[in-house]
Amino acid sequence: MTQQDGGLQTAGRLDHIGVSKILQISARARELKGEGRPVIVLGAGEPDFPTPDNVKAAAIAAIEADDSHYTPLDGTPELKQAIRQKFARENDLEFGIDQITVACGAKQVIFNAFMATLDEGDEVIIPTPGWASYEDMVGICGARMVPVAGRPENGFVIDAEDLEAAITPNTRWLLINSPGNPSGAVYTREDYAPLLEVLKKHPRVWLLADDIYEHIVHDGVEFATPARIAPELRDRILTVNGVSKAYAMTGWRIGYAAGPKALIRAMAVVQSQSTSCPSSISQAASVEALNGPQDFLAARQQSFAERRDLVVDALNRIDGIDCPSPKGAFYTYASCAGLIGRSTPGGERIDSDTDFCRLLLEQAYVAVVPGSAFGLSPFFRISYATSIDELGEAMARISRFAAELVEG
Ligand SMILES: Cc1ncc(COP(=O)(O)O)c(C=O)c1O
Repeated sequence: MTQQDGGLQTAGRLDHIGVSKILQISARARELKGEGRPVIVLGAGEPDFPTPDNVKAAAIAAIEADDSHYTPLDGTPELKQAIRQKFARENDLEFGIDQITVACGAKQVIFNAFMATLDEGDEVIIPTPGWASYEDMVGICGARMVPVAGRPENGFVIDAEDLEAAITPNTRWLLINSPGNPSGAVYTREDYAPLLEVLKKHPRVWLLADDIYEHIVHDGVEFATPARIAPELRDRILTVNGVSKAYAMTGWRIGYAAGPKALIRAMAVVQSQSTSCPSSISQAASVEALNGPQDFLAARQQSFAERRDLVVDALNRIDGIDCPSPKGAFYTYASCAGLIGRSTPGGERIDSDTDFCRLLLEQAYVAVVPGSAFGLSPFFRISYATSIDELGEAMARISRFAAELVEG
């Protein structure tokens, strides 16, 4: 079936892909701002830091050196070498250059992997709450996402039994994102181990590890990646990462992955007919990001941890909201179950997390994202990648909004 929109007949593959809730909320927040309302948006999926100066300088040098041509399809040799060294240095993983691919963001890496491997009727197991884009990417490829719910009391990590129960003859991939968007879930080596045991029993199922938030972990938790934990599964693991979150380079659009050669080759075929190659300038900048000084990462991580504590403490003081303290990324995923069934002083009833987020935006001018956008309700996601002052003001507004709600 296709959609009709102003005479345009869109492809059937778009039928189940809607405008994301996050974009709808951002649009409404922009409208309110345009009307002069003091809106605070806690929805950003990106660090609020600038790109480091040495990285900017490398990009400027690349422009001045006329490094402005198409590069090899899936990355320059220099960047692939820097990525190879990153995996060896930080993850104790050795890859050949032909096992590495570079794309316009981790998002394109994941899209390439799904386009290269998924057929109609295939299934991809994705823990919920999970990044909404995964489901849409799977859907565009004609496959189906199979959700497995993470347990809030377990830091939103999924259980091995639940994984095993979700596997069918059609399962092609398990996708794990750790540290995770939107819940901040971090799979430790111990959390991964039983899941990897399940995968060993199912040789048809591959594992995509989305490690994009690797450098944002809190409370001394040690980041773990499955290719390192289970070397015997390495011939069916794709390890995805990128410079967006660690180096505050979301707009530069560089992501990368390492995995089995045949998959990497197939992904390059997909990329060859979409973007040809990532930007030459961004690739030069990314070489410097990966090879240059890394000491600023610890300070940025500390700054995120302080902001997380501010938000978690403030939310847990609010009657009706319960916020576990996430171990990674820059998001909190709080339950608003205690507010369901309450009403605003004007008589609008909150029946879902979507209602809560809508009313919070319309009446307290704070934009957060409902759990329904990520497949697990009733929760809401806050991105705390914004200034302490703004976070403080937003928490005060959420607190006042909740305090004014009445039962029924
Ligand atoms: C879980 C997750 N994976 C991947 C991405 C994409 O990152 P990139 O900017 O590298 O495309 C994001 C961005 O928000 C994300 O949250």
